[in-house]
Parts: sequence; structure tokens; C-alpha cells
Amino acid sequence: MTTPLLTGHPAFKFLAGLAPGMPTLTDLFQQNPKRAEQMHIAAPAMTLDFSKQRVDAYVLSGLDQLFEQLKLSRAIDALFSGKEVNRSEGRAALHTRLRLPVEQLDRDFPEVSHQLRRMENLVGKVHDGVWRGFSGKRITDVVNLGVGGSDLGPLMVTQALKEYALPEARALRVHFASTIDGSQLFDLLDHLNPETTLFLVASKSFTTIDTLSNADTARAWLERVCPDPSLMLRCHFIGISASVDKMDQWGIPEDNQLLFWPWVGGRFSLWSTVGCAIALDLGMPVFRELLAGAHEMDEHFRTAPPLENVPVMMALLGIWNVNVQDIRAHAILPYDGRLKYFPPYLEQLEMESNGKSVTQDGVPIDYATCPVLWGEVGANAQHAFYQLLHQGTQPVASDFILAANRYDTAGADDVSRSGMAKNRKHREALVAQHELNIANCLAQSRVLALGNDAVDPTDNPFRFYPGNQPSSTLLLERLDAFSLGALIACYEHKVFTQAGIWGVNPFDQWGVELGKQVALQLQPLLNQTASDDGVALDSSTRLLADKIAGFRQEGYQDKPD
Ligand code: F6P
Repeated sequence: MTTPLLTGHPAFKFLAGLAPGMPTLTDLFQQNPKRAEQMHIAAPAMTLDFSKQRVDAYVLSGLDQLFEQLKLSRAIDALFSGKEVNRSEGRAALHTRLRLPVEQLDRDFPEVSHQLRRMENLVGKVHDGVWRGFSGKRITDVVNLGVGGSDLGPLMVTQALKEYALPEARALRVHFASTIDGSQLFDLLDHLNPETTLFLVASKSFTTIDTLSNADTARAWLERVCPDPSLMLRCHFIGISASVDKMDQWGIPEDNQLLFWPWVGGRFSLWSTVGCAIALDLGMPVFRELLAGAHEMDEHFRTAPPLENVPVMMALLGIWNVNVQDIRAHAILPYDGRLKYFPPYLEQLEMESNGKSVTQDGVPIDYATCPVLWGEVGANAQHAFYQLLHQGTQPVASDFILAANRYDTAGADDVSRSGMAKNRKHREALVAQHELNIANCLAQSRVLALGNDAVDPTDNPFRFYPGNQPSSTLLLERLDAFSLGALIACYEHKVFTQAGIWGVNPFDQWGVELGKQVALQLQPLLNQTASDDGVALDSSTRLLADKIAGFRQEGYQDKPD
């Protein structure tokens, strides 16, 4: 059965017909003083205010019909029940299974709880100092070697939740190295002690050259000091992968292999043993709380009606913006320094999932899919790219993300790494900073929506703010492991819903394969000349390769012996 294309559905045509007469956000707010009351919905740990989107009751009913006509409830059931939703790779996508409550996992999916327990056991050994380096010293540093989904999720979560690290985890330092050029590893190896450093080699496929080249470098670094290769591998390398064979081939001992499964997509894998870096950095209970928050969001997504369902609503608003309002750019603006790595995390989640132009059936599509998505901590971005949002020529939709409470929760303060809460004055100053931050967040979405009308109109062209830039605000009660789990799952489900509407497969990533293949083909040619490269390179690539060879030779000549 072929998937019908989005634009063929009556609900889409209805929506397209509404666009030309759509009032501006200023008019919409003036026409309906109760707008915000009617246009906010709740999900676990958060509220979504979408009143600053260019929508009215007709648009919402059209979006509801679209959800209905595309039979998205069935798609959601298919996801949760393990149907083959990733058709091009013939697989289910069951990341939601990983965050089921423990009792359910034990009963229905013991292989999942088994791996989680193995991970917990390993994390406990490192925290308790039972796991030792080759010379008998306690592990002080862990380096996660991974890229894409095997890096971005754990990196983002550990940065976001640092202050919640449990006492047993606080002495350990967790680092991340992903870049193929080795530069991050170079910096780390410069100051880490090989006797007390543990490497996590995280790669679903265990074939990703970026990660394996970093792992090879780490092994070479250890080989210099550890005379016994098998002792070195046993004490300093943990493999995390869906491929036992590949881990065996690389030399990861069986007891050091943490597994997950082909049905966990790389960019959906932080909930699996890929979360080992999170558990090491923050403590296993914090990781379990993250899973619990995600599970609550799964339940909300599975059961709430479309217009009361936060991820579905975010997806539908995105479709309205991209496909009807022709807004092809989407900014992610967390007003929280802890979420610095949330935009890059979402860049992979959204653009690698939905940056597609053929349907699940391989039929080319003639409408826009995933917008260009980028972001930065909101208050910093105000001093960087907000000029374009306010006065540029691009329409941009934005997500503001804000935690209402900060620096005032006894729980978080008690476990704070820094002991910051013990100093009342210090804390009061930070609470004041948080208020400033909130004011900035609210001010920016207000000005983006209303432009000069937010304050007073002007004739000065340089001070003219057109407004009418749509945004949503996701308001968290507070940022903690539970709400972060829910927030991440919320975006995962938004991505899945949009994929269903666009008819694309969000779980494959064929678009990244050709580049890898060509890189492998080019590497041996770099030091050859045009006459003997054996491959008809385009003139640009040939010229650059020749120049690089020239510069490198000069570089070597300059070096003293
Ligand atoms: O090249 C893209 C990609 O396959 C991502 O989808 C994935 O998250 C990343 O590479 C890393 O893959 P792996 O975990 O198999 O090393």
C-alpha cells in the first residue's frame, strides 16, 4: 500500500485555503483577549503556550482533521507495538521500550533489564573504586568516544544535569571526544593519566571510523605505558554497541561489552546502554529518573487527543509553519545555560530524521519537509543572531524553552556539586539572575510576535520591528532528570508525528552514507598525483588535494629535526 502524499488530503487543502486571510499576531491577540487561555496545553512536567503561533480556531480544526485523515493514531500504535516503522531498513523503532518501568521490563523484556543491570553493576564498580586501572589505581576519568547519537545525547544530558550528580559520582570526571581529527582527544590525552582513565567506546555499528580512529589513538596512548595488552583492554575499555562481533574484533573483552539492539536508532539511543556516560557522571538513579520522565511523556503521547497532546501539537504547528506559511527555518532557544547542547542534539534528531525527500515507499515528494533547525542558549543568542529574527528577511519559527524554578529547590541544592546553596547571598544573586533571564525570554517572544506594537509604533525605519514571527514556549516547572527525560521524548515524538505527516521514514539516514564512502575512496589518493590517482576526480577535489599535499610538505620541511 502506498502512502498518500500530504498535499493530496482535503484537510491540507482546507489549511492552505486559510493562509491568505490569516491575520497578524497583533490582530489575533487584539481580536481575542482569551487567546492564551485557549492556546496552552499541558504534558508531564511542562506547559506548551502556542498562542504566539499564527493560528486560530479554524487552523486548529484543520490540523486536527489532518491528524485524523492521515490516520496518525494508527502510526503511533504501530510505533509502540513494535511494527516495522523503519521500512527501508526492515526494522521496528522501539526506543520507548527502553524506558518502560523496571517491573514491566523484568516481566516482558528481560534482555533490556539485563543490560541495564549490567550497566548499573559496572557503574557501581567504578564509583566504588572496585574497578581499577592496570596498575591498581582507582579510575578518576572516563572518556566517552562516540559520535552523532553515541555522543550528542549523553553529552547534552550530562551538561544539563550536572548539579544533580549524586555524591558517589561527583569525584569522577566524564569527558567526551567525538571529532575525527582527534583534536578533542589530543587535548584530553595531554592531561589525563593513562593509569586512571577508562574509555567508553560507544558505537551502535562499531564501524564508525570517527569513533574507531579515536579508540585506536586511545589504545596506542595506553600501550605506551601498559605492557600487557589484554590487561589494558580489560581495565581501560568498555564497548557499547549493537554488534558483539565487531566489539570482539576490536578486542573488547566480553565482560566489558554493553549491548543494545538494532531496533534502537542511533539518535534515539541515549536511553540504552549508550547512557552509560550519563550514569557514570550523575549516578544510576538519576539515569533511571530520566527514563521515568521519558516514559511519562510516552504515555501522554500515546493517549492524549491530538489538540491536547504536546508533541503532536508541536508537530502540527510545524507543518502549518513549513508547508502552509512557507517558514523554512526553526530556532531552538533554551533560556537556560544548562541546555547549551540541546540545540545541537535536536539538530541531529530532527534533521537526520526528517531531512528527506522521498516517502517511505521511495516516491519523490514535492513539498518541504524538515526546516533548517539551529539554536543557542537564548540570552546569548540575543547578542548573536536575534537581529535576523527581529529585522531580517527570513521568516523563522522559534521554540523558547524555560524552567520556571531555578536555584530555589532544596533537593537540587542539597546535591549540588559546588555546595553553592550553602551561601545564601550567593544564591539570592543567582535567583535575581534567573529573574532577569525569565524577563528576557518573555520579552523576546513578545517582541517577535508583536514587533513595535508590543511597546509603541515608530516611523524610524532602523527601529522598526515588523513582528509576526511565530513562536511557542515550552515552560518546565524546573529542569531536572524527570523533566529533561520528558522534554527529549517530547521532541522525539514531535519528529515521529511530522514524519508521519510528510510520509517519510524518520529512522533511516541514507543521506549520510555516500560521503563516508567517498572519504574512504579519497584517503589513499591524497598523496598521489593526478596521473596516477586511477579515479577521475573533479578538478576542484584534485586541486585541493594537490594544494594540501604541497602545504603538508612545506610544513614538514619547516620542522626542526
Ligand atoms: O553517520 C550517521 C550516523 O549513523 C548516526 O545516525 C549515528 O548516530 C552516528 O552515525 C554514529 O553511529 P554509530 O553509533 O554506529 O557509531
